[in-house]
Amino acid sequence: MAKPILVSGIQPSGRLHIGNYLGALKNFVDLQNSGDYDCYFFIADLHSLTEQYDPHEKQKQILNLMADFLAAGLDPKKSTIYLQSLIPAHSELAWIFNTITPMGELERMTQFKDKAERQAANVNVGLFDYPVLMAADILLYSPKFVPVGDDQMQHLELTRTIARKFNARFGNIFFEPKGLLTKTPRVMSLKNPEKKMSKSAPESCLFIDDSPDEIRAKIARATTDSGSEITYDRESKPGLSNLLELYGAFTHMDPQTVAKEFGDKNYAEFKSALSVLVSSYFREFRDTKKKLLAKPATLKKTLESGSKKAAKIAETKIADVKKKIGLAL
Ligand code: ADP
Ligand code: TRP
Repeated sequence: MAKPILVSGIQPSGRLHIGNYLGALKNFVDLQNSGDYDCYFFIADLHSLTEQYDPHEKQKQILNLMADFLAAGLDPKKSTIYLQSLIPAHSELAWIFNTITPMGELERMTQFKDKAERQAANVNVGLFDYPVLMAADILLYSPKFVPVGDDQMQHLELTRTIARKFNARFGNIFFEPKGLLTKTPRVMSLKNPEKKMSKSAPESCLFIDDSPDEIRAKIARATTDSGSEITYDRESKPGLSNLLELYGAFTHMDPQTVAKEFGDKNYAEFKSALSVLVSSYFREFRDTKKKLLAKPATLKKTLESGSKKAAKIAETKIADVKKKIGLAL
């Protein structure tokens, strides 16, 4: 029997932080290695054009993310790994979906509102339309699941709405997928634990390729709450609780148990243990990534060959869509 399909993507718009890893990339690797799914993972380069970028840097960012994927354990023999912009069907389907998506649905999107505020000088139409392209990315491959962090769930809900709407109007060809969250779907910022860790505030991110010295310094400077007792309480100790969750995520413990284990230690001792844990966890990743980046031609080839595989599926689906809406000659 065919395995259930899963699809997800990440934008090549900066270095990956520990939230991207624990909310998304680590899960991609675990799901791939479970052998239970037919996996599609892609680099959402078209989406990344909605934020400020330098065209000379874009290719580097794409290959950097590909190196992250592979160094973290994604394997082109087990998963289809591809580049969104190499598959025109993504853009074509996004356009078709545009014509059935009410403006009002997009105006509600909280990510759009946040980003529009943050990049007030560049509120482009792409930023507004971003979730429609995301719906196309997903629905082209008929997945059952979409592993993402918590911040993408609203976009996924819209994807289901678009699928339903298309099916009702033109006939049933899209499947409504579900989101898959990890135990840490929302890692908080190191500096401001009320907010999620985000690439847009690099000073509050722990990047997965940070050096051991950077990791130590950043964790030491992370905001912790007043008091000195190590207890897990998201309300009254959001900073410390975020760090306890991180420790738990890397050791498969729940944060309450981590707090108990460090019950007789102070904040500095706990932070130092967390730094050692994180930097040793990513040691092999850092080495592998360096080696992969030294061979950009191989990274490109791997991405091209995955894209050819994905394109076949996408092309079949877009042909079906065109038939349904009366565009096929
Ligand atoms: P960012 O929000 O940092 O720009 P992306 O939008 O590129 O990151 O997100 C890539 C993936 O990482 C998505 O699945 C997203 O939901 C997930 N993600 C982003 N930030 C976090 C976070 N702080 N905690 C958990 N998952 C996150
Ligand atoms: N919007 C996602 C993010 O910011 C990236 C993305 C684009 C995506 N297309 C997707 C994720 C399709 C899952 C499925 O992280």
